Amino acid sequence: MSLPRTEIPAPLGLLAELTHRCPLHCPYCSNPVELERRSGELDTGTWTRVLSEAAALGVLQVHLSGGEPTARRDLEEIVAHCADVGLYSNLITAGVNLSRERLAALADAGLDHVQLSIQGPEAATNDLVAGLTGAFDQKMALAGHVRDLGLPLTVNSVIHRHNIDQVQQVIELALRLGAHRLEIAHAQYYGWALRNRAALMPRRAQVEAAMATLEAARSELKGRLVIDAVVPDYYASLPKPCMGGWGLRSLNVTPAGKVLPCHAAETIPGLSFETVRDRPLAEIWYEGAAFQAFRGTDWMAEPCRSCERREVDWGGCRCQALAIAGDAGKTDPACHKSPHHAELLALAEADSDRAPADFAYRGFATAKADA
Ligand code: SF4
Ligand code: FES
Repeated sequence: MSLPRTEIPAPLGLLAELTHRCPLHCPYCSNPVELERRSGELDTGTWTRVLSEAAALGVLQVHLSGGEPTARRDLEEIVAHCADVGLYSNLITAGVNLSRERLAALADAGLDHVQLSIQGPEAATNDLVAGLTGAFDQKMALAGHVRDLGLPLTVNSVIHRHNIDQVQQVIELALRLGAHRLEIAHAQYYGWALRNRAALMPRRAQVEAAMATLEAARSELKGRLVIDAVVPDYYASLPKPCMGGWGLRSLNVTPAGKVLPCHAAETIPGLSFETVRDRPLAEIWYEGAAFQAFRGTDWMAEPCRSCERREVDWGGCRCQALAIAGDAGKTDPACHKSPHHAELLALAEADSDRAPADFAYRGFATAKADA
């Protein structure tokens, strides 16, 4: 049974995946394993229409993402349009191939915020994980330009076995760069990260030490640096409210215009996704079958159905339920009440006990895309 339109809130955020092109090759990239080629990307006019539709729908924040969004030559136009229609724009960038002049042009166009990813707190780790020599130095230069231009800066770092023992250095780096916010997100094992799980999974003791470091820094740096942390599901006992609830808070538009409830939704068999080329964004949000599939609580089976947390975490993550339990309609195995919970922990322990595997770096050559 689907939720009636009057009970569906407007989305707050839209992740605009402008392109899958990217100079980096992070092995935990949130893009699908089947990457979209440039020839399939939406054009400027379609993106500006979609952004107008998003603003009319009630979206407040647009995260301009990718791949690497600065690979789009029309990014200034897209940013300017966000400002015109009253959307707060956040540029999510790898900080490579982005000159001071171009950043200044984006700021002039109305860019509100920059989120810079770092793969490690020094060049050796960063460039190994990113799969690009020299990437760290370019990121450091970009952070300086962001600061000089007076734009607010968030540093984002995905944590895994290759950098989890460097969390303290990541915090110190964020402070040195003048970041307002630091996001420490443990790798989430879908898509590329699932493919690389054996190369990425940390040990439980490493996770616990990292969380303790973060907690201590959070209270010590209160008022100077906001620290957000995404805990690693495989060692958790309760799941995260993935996406703030399926179809309740945010939506993704892929480079080709498909509208998704989350970045990994295309892994779920049986769901079909509509595109902004064919239907207005609001109709897809309110009526699209994929959005209705797991919205609210009616779709839930036990143990979620009668659980007091069902409107707190919304049953966790559908994509993780699919990846581990084989059914997106089941309880997220990160939950201690899931019959698959022990399996999740066993997978984590087995992977983290092994010698680290080589990365399958993200890229068109290693993707399944054939175009
Ligand atoms: Fe959340 Fe379902 Fe676990 Fe309850 S049983 S805590 S609703 S995932
Ligand atoms: Fe798809 Fe969590 S990533 S619901």
